Amino acid sequence: MRHNLAEKLVVSETVDEYLAAQEKKSLLRFLTCGSVDDGKSTLIGRLLSDAKQIFEDQLSALERDSRKHGTTGEDIDFALLVDGLEAEREQGITIDVAYRFFATSKRKFIVADTPGHEQYTRNMATGASTADLAIVLVDARQGVLRQTRRHSIIASLLGIRHIVLAVNKIDLVGFDRAVFERIVGEYSRFAQDLGFASVTAIPMSARYGDNVSRRSDETGWYSGPTLIEHLETVDIDEDASGRPFRFPVQYVNRPNLDFRGFAGTVASGAVARGDEIVVAKSGKASRVRRIVAHGGDLERAVEGQAVTLVLEDEVEVSRGNLLVSPATRPQVADQFAANIVWFDEKALLPGRSYILRTETDQASATVTELKYRLDINDFAHAAAKSLEMNEVGFCTISTQSPIAFDPFAENRATGAFILIDRLTNATVGAGMIRHGLRRADNIHWHSLDVTKQARAAAKQQKPTVLWFTGLSGSGKSTIANLLERKLHAGGRHTYLLDGDNIRHGLNRDLGFSEADRVENIRRVAEVARLMADAGLIVLVSFISPFRAERRVARELMSPGEFVEVFVDTPFEECARRDPKGLYARALNGEIKNFTGVDSPYEAPEKPEIHLATLGRTPEEMVDVLEGWLREREIADQHYDEGGGI
Ligand code: ADX
Repeated sequence: MRHNLAEKLVVSETVDEYLAAQEKKSLLRFLTCGSVDDGKSTLIGRLLSDAKQIFEDQLSALERDSRKHGTTGEDIDFALLVDGLEAEREQGITIDVAYRFFATSKRKFIVADTPGHEQYTRNMATGASTADLAIVLVDARQGVLRQTRRHSIIASLLGIRHIVLAVNKIDLVGFDRAVFERIVGEYSRFAQDLGFASVTAIPMSARYGDNVSRRSDETGWYSGPTLIEHLETVDIDEDASGRPFRFPVQYVNRPNLDFRGFAGTVASGAVARGDEIVVAKSGKASRVRRIVAHGGDLERAVEGQAVTLVLEDEVEVSRGNLLVSPATRPQVADQFAANIVWFDEKALLPGRSYILRTETDQASATVTELKYRLDINDFAHAAAKSLEMNEVGFCTISTQSPIAFDPFAENRATGAFILIDRLTNATVGAGMIRHGLRRADNIHWHSLDVTKQARAAAKQQKPTVLWFTGLSGSGKSTIANLLERKLHAGGRHTYLLDGDNIRHGLNRDLGFSEADRVENIRRVAEVARLMADAGLIVLVSFISPFRAERRVARELMSPGEFVEVFVDTPFEECARRDPKGLYARALNGEIKNFTGVDSPYEAPEKPEIHLATLGRTPEEMVDVLEGWLREREIADQHYDEGGGI
């Protein structure tokens, strides 16, 4: 996740210099979160400024800018320093994650500046994925808000152990101790179940610098540390040394025939020369012959170090493999339970296929069951059929091929994944694996003696899935029915799966919500696959309105086996024909989620067969289909002896 989620790295030119000069100091990664106006940008600007890391030229540019855009009179507006993005200046929201570097005499810091707008949970999760600590900002006048809770829950899920509750703008409530204590009380009650190792509340004014790096004269009642003091001293060194060795291979380094090394960054634990290692998934074992690093060979490498490992033996290792210590191997499974934070405007739907990516693996994945959605106010487990944007849930996931992982609670690097939308390639969710599912251990493929080929040969035909998609009333079933009659009469072994019919039996529990349609198609695709496996020519006649599910169906079949037939009848024509009187009722508002009315139909982009039906009879279209099948020897003359109809 560390690499995949790091969307945008804003690196000051001096970062390398800092890091080199300050190698000896420990590093604290933190992020700030909270609602839009809680003052995050001002706080980060204040921290950077106080840490004397603002360059003179930046300062003078800033003074000019502040006069132009500023809201603070002649003073420097610190928010402008951080929010370099025009978009934020114009809309009042930050739209990406920026990483800033600064240092004090005691420690160095990387801060992820994440936006607070409700829509941008994704960015917050991005920043949180590597952070040790989160500063949760609260406006003293507003107290704990939805966003405060949401971000705290996400911080907890993403493995952040330390929280600073920054009760900001304390000057605007007259530095009132009672206000501070009320907010701290409310937050503590809420956060007690989130498993943080520390929650430190600090009253502050980021705008004027009170209790940021300078102890405020106005909060005599507060005896805790200033923010900087706390950041400099908070103990984040949790026993990383005891963690098992994990090394995701980023690439195989083979400059010549004499050298073959595996380059990557130690994700956790440590490795020494001579140590035994295994490849997580294959179980192949070897020993570490050399640990090659920038300045020469090392005896030992630890978490965070980028090295190239050379092994004793010629074991098969490729990019994406995970090298681990043999005593503590990760789990390898294709089914597991995970917490998910959803970012996308299109809801997460069980049954829909996504791409799941971990540090090392990538696989097609579906959420098999959404166990619950988390209520951010009281942590109640609410039943849910989908996860909407910004929601958090717990679910079971199955992947098409096994992945190697550790539970997230044990290892943030190897226990996290992201989900990617297959059509848009957008990152739509982040996941934290809780545990593998035992049931996956106990179910294995049974190899059968009678194969698909044997079954098909007995029927003397090529198994094929003809997938008819189109609006209700477009003519799918009529055409499919007529074609099946002809194929049957020609001696072919066929079966017709029809939406209305299957919905009376197998899919009787499903309605027409988006989630139900996804499941409807998933089941039918699985059934069609079994039937193709039985050697049949399968005709599937379902609206199947979503590209994503038709694509899943296609991928379930063998190459060339899936034939998408787009029965293209315009909406107006379907509504005019209205064979079941459903359009009239849907247009009247009596039927909800009706395809083409208030539920979308995503037309195929590249169907194998496109039937524009206007002005053509069903017989003409069946001729087109038969011609197509004959050309591919799926239904050739040879078997036509039985005659047509
Ligand atoms: S699909 O969208 O999930 O693929 P399916 O093909 O199974 O739909 O079922 C569609 C049939 O259900 C339609 O031909 C129509 O007879 C009936 N139907 C009932 N309600 C709806 C609705 N809201 N939207 C579409 N079809 C509906």
